Amino acid sequence: MAPPTARPRARLRLAVLISGRGSNLQALIRAAADPVYPAEIALVISNRPEAPGLTHATRAGIPSRTLPQPSRAAFASDADRALRQSGAELVVLAGFMRILDSDFVESWRDRLVNIHPSLLPAFPGLHPQRQALAAGVRFSGCTVHFVRAEVDSGPIIAQAVVPVHPGDDEALLSERILAAEHRLYPMAVRLFAEGRLEIAGDRVTIRGAVPPEITLYNPSEVLASADG
Ligand code: GRF
Repeated sequence: MAPPTARPRARLRLAVLISGRGSNLQALIRAAADPVYPAEIALVISNRPEAPGLTHATRAGIPSRTLPQPSRAAFASDADRALRQSGAELVVLAGFMRILDSDFVESWRDRLVNIHPSLLPAFPGLHPQRQALAAGVRFSGCTVHFVRAEVDSGPIIAQAVVPVHPGDDEALLSERILAAEHRLYPMAVRLFAEGRLEIAGDRVTIRGAVPPEITLYNPSEVLASADG
């Protein structure tokens, strides 16, 4: 008798909401192209018809919708309907630049995630890279978090740290952070899809997660001791 074959587990259905370039969408499309990745993208929604990111969806054969409704409530109800029709189990904000209706956020509570290009809770809101440079921090990075009604708040799932270089301007720092975003977002979504995240109050615990055994110094210790 042939040995029983393991039935492949259904992949988690994602909907990705974008407003612009869509490089994080592209990173998720690339991750989901691997058949062992535990999630697939069922729908892409843009609130802007001209969003360049929509072409990534088209090229990958992923259904997309444009919902340019000017009112926040109208967007929320149309998006909610489209998401439910698509069978989305997790809604992924990827450069989505509209503030979401609080009822929408509540009805997708703990199934709605965002990526922000700073180490939250530092520098929420617009231009976080510019804020980081203005504050003179030595490290910045990006954060994937569950979404709550207040902008860029909610339980943190994962973060990546990048150094700030002395010659950085906003574009250079953004580019360095973005490269980290493209690895962090697919990883965070995978942890969700594998059912490894537990939310208790404002904190997320990750089953089986091991923190890195490193401490980073900026400037590096080598330079500091050579000059000192
Ligand atoms: C990213 O930096 C993301 O963190 C922020 O908006 C930017 C979107 O970039 N929320 P893209 O559209 O994914 O290229």
